[in-house]
Order: sequence, then C-alpha cells, then structure tokens
Amino acid sequence: MQSLNDIRSTFLGYFEKQGHEVVPSSPLVPRNDPTLMFANSGMVQFKNLFTGVETRDYKRATTAQKCVRAGGKHNDLDNVGYTARHHTFFEMMGNFSFGDYFKSEAIPFAWELVTRELDIDPKRLLVTVYHTDDEAAEIWKKTGVPEDRIIRIATNDNFWMMGPTGPCGPCTEIFFDHGDKYWGGPPGSPEEDGDRFVEIWNLVFMQYEQFEDGSRRELAAQSIDTGMGIERVAALLQGTNDNYSTDLIRSLIEASADVTSTDPDGPGKTHHRVIADHLRSTSFLIADGVMPSNDGRGYVLRRIMRRAMRHAHMLGSKDPVMHRLVPALVRQMGAAYPELVRAQPLIEETLKLEETRFKQTLDRGLKLLDEELVSLPAGASLPGATAFKLYDTYGFPLDLTQDALRERERTVDTDGFDAAMAEQKAKARAAWAGTGESADLAIWFEIADQHGATDFLGYDTETAEGQMLTLVRDGAEVEALEAGETGWVVLNQTPFYGESGGQVGDTGFLRRLEDEHDMAEVSDTQKMGGGKITAHQVTVRQGRFARGDAVALEVDHKRRGMIRANHSATHLLHEALRRALGPHVAQRGSLNAPDRLRFDFSHAKALTADEIAQVETEVNAFIRQNAPVTTRIMTPDDARAIGAQALFGEKYGDEVRVVSMGELAGSGKGADGKTYSLELCGGTHVRQTGDIGTFALTSESASAAGVRRIEALTGEAAMAELRGRDHALSQIEGLLKAHGPDAVARVAALLDERRRLDNEVAQLRRDLAMAGGPGEGPELREVGGVPFVAQVLSGVQGKDLPPLIDEHKARLGSGAVLLIADTGGKVAVAAGVTEDLTGNVSAVDLVKAAVEALGGKGGGGRPDLAQGGAKDASAADAAIKAAEAVLAG
Ligand code: ALA
Repeated sequence: MQSLNDIRSTFLGYFEKQGHEVVPSSPLVPRNDPTLMFANSGMVQFKNLFTGVETRDYKRATTAQKCVRAGGKHNDLDNVGYTARHHTFFEMMGNFSFGDYFKSEAIPFAWELVTRELDIDPKRLLVTVYHTDDEAAEIWKKTGVPEDRIIRIATNDNFWMMGPTGPCGPCTEIFFDHGDKYWGGPPGSPEEDGDRFVEIWNLVFMQYEQFEDGSRRELAAQSIDTGMGIERVAALLQGTNDNYSTDLIRSLIEASADVTSTDPDGPGKTHHRVIADHLRSTSFLIADGVMPSNDGRGYVLRRIMRRAMRHAHMLGSKDPVMHRLVPALVRQMGAAYPELVRAQPLIEETLKLEETRFKQTLDRGLKLLDEELVSLPAGASLPGATAFKLYDTYGFPLDLTQDALRERERTVDTDGFDAAMAEQKAKARAAWAGTGESADLAIWFEIADQHGATDFLGYDTETAEGQMLTLVRDGAEVEALEAGETGWVVLNQTPFYGESGGQVGDTGFLRRLEDEHDMAEVSDTQKMGGGKITAHQVTVRQGRFARGDAVALEVDHKRRGMIRANHSATHLLHEALRRALGPHVAQRGSLNAPDRLRFDFSHAKALTADEIAQVETEVNAFIRQNAPVTTRIMTPDDARAIGAQALFGEKYGDEVRVVSMGELAGSGKGADGKTYSLELCGGTHVRQTGDIGTFALTSESASAAGVRRIEALTGEAAMAELRGRDHALSQIEGLLKAHGPDAVARVAALLDERRRLDNEVAQLRRDLAMAGGPGEGPELREVGGVPFVAQVLSGVQGKDLPPLIDEHKARLGSGAVLLIADTGGKVAVAAGVTEDLTGNVSAVDLVKAAVEALGGKGGGGRPDLAQGGAKDASAADAAIKAAEAVLAG
C-alpha cells in the first residue's frame, strides 16, 4: 500500500528529478497576500512570481502545501464530515514553472507521474480541457490519451482563479473513474457531481492577471501552477473513494474512537470524521500562530474548534478530548511538518482551554436549542433571535447551530440572526456614545464596527502585505491621502505594534504594491476603537494612498529589535526586583521605547547601592543564560494559578498571553516550577534572553509616594553606559595608585574640611562686617523719615550679602539697608527694606539707583530684598547718595 506519506515523497521526488526546487509549504496565514484569509492552494506563496513582481533563483518548484478552506471564496466547512471528500484542511501537491516550461511539458510530466510513478491504470483516467484550448487537447493526444477521453469544458470549472484578483488561466484536469459501483457521470455530463468520476489533479496554465475592476491583463511570462489533492490520490491508490478511509485520516478517526471509547464505524461515524478533519485544521492553524478569538482568522479557528467539540460532546465525552488527539496527528504528520512538533504543547493547551471553556455552556445551549425545537412547527427555521442568543450567551457560532440543525433537517433564519446582531451593535454604540467621548474617538469606534478587528501579525513577522480599509485625516474618513499629507490608515492586517502596555508603537514604511515607488512613512502606531483596530499614522512621501490599495508593510526592524530587548529586559528586571526586595514589588507603570526602558514599582524606600548592584547583576545573569522566551495563551485564572504577574486593576479578556523567560534550578513559577519570569503581556519580545545583549541600570528615584522608578538601558546603549562607569573607575584607580590605598578617604576628608573652612571664613567676614572696626561701623542715618544704613564692604562675597541684610534689618527693626561689596574686580550691591516699609519704598528701586550710579545696569529682586552688580566701586559714595535720593522720595 502506498501511504499518504509515501505519495508525498513520490510526488516531490519526481519533480526534484525534473529539476524542480523542493520548497517547504508556506504558513497557512499568507505573508504575501492581503486579500486571502488562509493559504488555499499551492500557488499562493508564488503569487508574485507569476505576476513578475518577484524573481527567485529557481524557475521550477514543487511543494506539498498546507491548505485551509474554511472561509472566503473556497469554503468547505459546512460539508465536512458528511461527504467523502470535503475537508477544512488538506494538502495540495503541485509543480510550478515561472516562465520556464508551459503546456507541452507540464502535461507529459503529469501523465508520467500518474501512470508510471504512482502506477495508476491509464484506462481509468479521463482529462478535461477548456473548450477553446485546442493546444492542450493536442498535447494530451500526443502524450497518449485517446481522443474520446479528452473532454472539453466551457464553464469556469476549467478556468482557475485564485480569488477575486490575482493570476489565473485556463486549466486541464485529470479525473479518475472509481467504477460503476458508484453513481455518477463523466465531467460535463448531468451526473458529473456523483462520486464515480473524481478530479485528482488540476493543471493551470497561468496566462492572465485579474484585477478588482474585472479587467484582465496578459502576463508577460506563461507559467504553470498545478494542484493535486493528496488525500484523493491516496484514496484511489488505497482502493477506496472515501478520503476518510485513507491511512492517515483513518488513524485519526481511530484515535478519536479510542479517546471517546466508541466505535469508529458505529452510529458516531460522522462525528469522528468531523473531529479528524477539524483536528488537522485547528492544530495546523495554531502552529502557524492563529489563536481563537472573536474576529477574523481567530474566529474561523474558534468556529472549527467548537464544531469539533460539539461532535465530541455528541459522542458522549464528558471531558475535553481534542487535545488528547494531538499526539496521533504529530505522529502522522510531524516529520513532514516540523512546525507541528514545535507547537505541540501550544496546540494541546489551546485546544484544552477552549474545550474546557466551551463545555461550560455547550450543555445549556443544546438544551435551549432542544426546547425551542419542540415548540417549532415541523420544517420551520429556527428564529434568528434564538440563534443569536445561542451565539451571544452560549458561544455557539452560527455555523455550529446550523450544523446541529442539519441533523434534524432544519435551517436557521439567518436574516433574523443578522438583524439581532445589528441591533446589539447599535445598542453597544448608543451606550458608548453616552459616555461623552469626543467625536474624534467616535470615528474609530465606527471604523472598528464596520471593519472588525485588525489582525496583528507582528509576533511572527515584521513585514507583510495588507489592504487599506480606510484612511482618516483631521478626524474624518477620507478616500485617499496625497503626497505630503499626514493622516491615519487602517488595514485589514498589520505587523505594526500599536502602542499598549507601555510598549511604544512601531514605525516603518508602507509601499503600494502596484507601484512600490509610492511610499508612506509610518511615524506612529496606535490602538483605536477600544483597542480593536490598529491605526498607523503616516505621511505620504510619494504617490497617493487610497482606500482598497494593497500595500507592503515594513516595520523599522532595528528599532523594533531594540524595543523587544527593552521589553524583555523589563520582565527580567521586574522579577529581579521581587527577589531582591520582596513580593510587595508590583508594576505601577512602564515604558519600553527603543532607546531606554523605565519601570515604576511599589516600594517604599530608595534602593541601596547593594540592592541596585544585585538587581543589575541578576538581570545580566539571565541574559547570559540565553534561555528561549516562550508565549502561551490561557485564561487569566490559569495564568495566575501558575504564578504569572498580572497588572493589578487591569481588565483582562477571556484569554491572556503569558510570556515566560529564564530557567531556574527549582522554586520557580509555572507548571514545572522552573520558570524565572512569568508575566501576562501582549508585547513583543526577544526570542532568547541573550538577544537583550547587556543591561545597565542608569537611575533609581522616587516617582510617587510609595513608588520607585528605575531607568535602564540594554544592548549597545548599555555598553556605552558601562564604558562610562569604567572610565570613572579607572580615574579612581589612578588616584589610589598615586596616593596610596586610603587616598579616596583622604581626598573626601580634605573636601569636607575645605567646605567647613569656607563656611567658617564666610561667617567671620559677616561678623566682621557687622561689627566693624572703630569708625568703620555702619552709619545709621535717617532719610525721608526712614532709618537707613549704608555700608561699603570689602572681603565679602556677593552671596554673603543677603544674610547680612537680614541681620541689619533685624537690628533696625524698621528701616532700609544698602550694602556695597567690593569683591575685587566686581561690585555686588544689595538693598533691603523691612516689611513695614515696603509699601513706601522698594529695595529694587534702591538697588537700581545704586547700580546706575556705579556705572552698571539693572538689578532686581523683591521689595524687601534686591540685588545687583557693577564693575567699579570708586563711585560708592555717589551710589549711597542715589539711594538716599530714592528714600527722600
Ligand atoms: N491552483 C490550482 C488549484 O488550486 C492548481 O486547483
């Protein structure tokens, strides 16, 4: 028997021999296509090679591509489990030529592979060609297919398109005849939908590119894109026409029967088929970074998961079972798809979590459904409002309800469902509008409502393509932004991180796919509309960016790298602080910018030098450990149960990301008790702690009552900081060497002594000034009824004057003072007026008059004390006179 894994090897090996590069499957989430939800055929990753936008160093390729068809143009979800050949997940094998060979080689290749390598009886094969494609028909004839087995088809069945836009062309298909024990007719006949004739391989002659407006252009190069569903071929080679009876899928069905203790072929047969199929799509989607959510790709995943879970429930399983099937899948497919092995723990945890949660409402939902059906007339559809209640309260995606009704031959009133959904949204909007937020914000909520959440791709990639959903300028939606204009743009998906959780928003570039000279700079990224959508602040540098445009997005890689390092270092810092200071340390705020990090935390007193050194050393030790940084999704409760640090008072959703880093010998957190840091966090992080490079703490200060603030650097900036410290140290070392080991203590003692002496000298000078020698003492006179002291001093500094003024004022009780100090080269002037007199005369006026008389300018202060300066003291007498004149009024 040729197993599915053998067939894959045969196919890839054959084309490798024919000079094709064996290229790995691309991820299910397309990196290079903004319009596509999931990779749905082998050509997706090569799209730009067909259109000529991109070239690679090979012109022939072969792949086994993971595909999911559960949304968008190709959607098989509804039929899965009930038919022999529908899947949400399947593998498509293909060979590709990018402007290299065309029809005359592609057809013989296919024929040789099918009839020789796979050894399929040619008498059981038929082919179709597009009705106008004489060339293909002729080549088939030459290859050895009799004319009566070449069928011309005029419909779109033989014109293949990837989606509404993109490369496309006529195709030729190979069909296998399963024999007359099955009902059905050849392609093109009225009975073609029967099970007898099954298409096994589609060869597309890529010749055109289709655009959104319906127009088409001829491609410069003629290319080949083929797709063979491996499950169908396995079926015929294993003597069945049912994909679910082939070795690989059968083993999953048996695993499902095993964990539910039921018969794989008994009354629960359909349930096992659904479970086996959905196990594949959900596991591969999770491995490729999709997480269950209520929007976009995440919601498709959730729908598939919950559908499988209902079928498991119907098999009577009380406990979650899906996660227990993952090892069987990994055994079958892990060798061909190593990402499955890597993600196995994540897949198991995610499935278990979702199933545990869904089980809590599943029973009650199904009960409600049963009750509703009892009172419903035979054949009537389920009211939309009930389906909506199942959706809203019990977590039943619409298609799950439809699937449940299918067995009872009923449908859902989907219009009613949509109406109920619209009504709920309107209510939410009205409730929100009542909060009085500004109109500027309202627009983001409207956009979020209309377009749904932005898919964030930035955990896995920093480049991607996206489609421009809308643009905003000056608080209003606009059709386009022109060169030179600044505004905000929202795309269906983005690798740009919107500022949140202390991590600053990404910056980078957008380029229009149609003409990559058209470029806009992204200067900031923010989350808007309640965090649902990501808005990019852009300035268009060249061209025009309009709604609907497909763009390439590129995050500033270097800057993001520095942000990652700082964010991960913050987690290590947080844990180091808790270990050094105690469990009361909790995050109160943080900033993760490219050039620095800041962390505020609860702690009542300043850190000692030893504590700072301990924290810095510990963070660096965990950086050097270079342990991988891992991320998981769990409920907030589970996250707390394993010891994850959460932000107090923060609202978390149903699910949280938990980031762990660092390994301990024991007494750590997490299920294994070995994890050093475990935090709830939506931010982006380094892959390994070693990527942080170096950590240097630059300051520790008070930020608010009971809150300390640490600022720090990582990477290159931290190195510079440490070099600075080194320099200071080497200076001290030099000092020690020159003056002996106690030099530092001696210098410090000398500096203290010097400070003490300086103060003493100043005090003596002031005392001297106040006391005066015989005949030198300040002369008290009365001017304009105001007691007035004026004095010329020497050997006194400017800064000594205010205390002297105070002293004089105290002695006078009521009066004015003018002091002129000749400090050698400069003259300091100060005047004072006691409080009771400031209403009559201002010290400022006294100083100004004196300074002017000394040939200087200005002076200022308060009415009770003012100061000024001049150059030459020789006119001191005139200065005193001038002050007297002010007093005399
Ligand atoms: N891209 C073609 C298909 O999916 C081969 O059928």
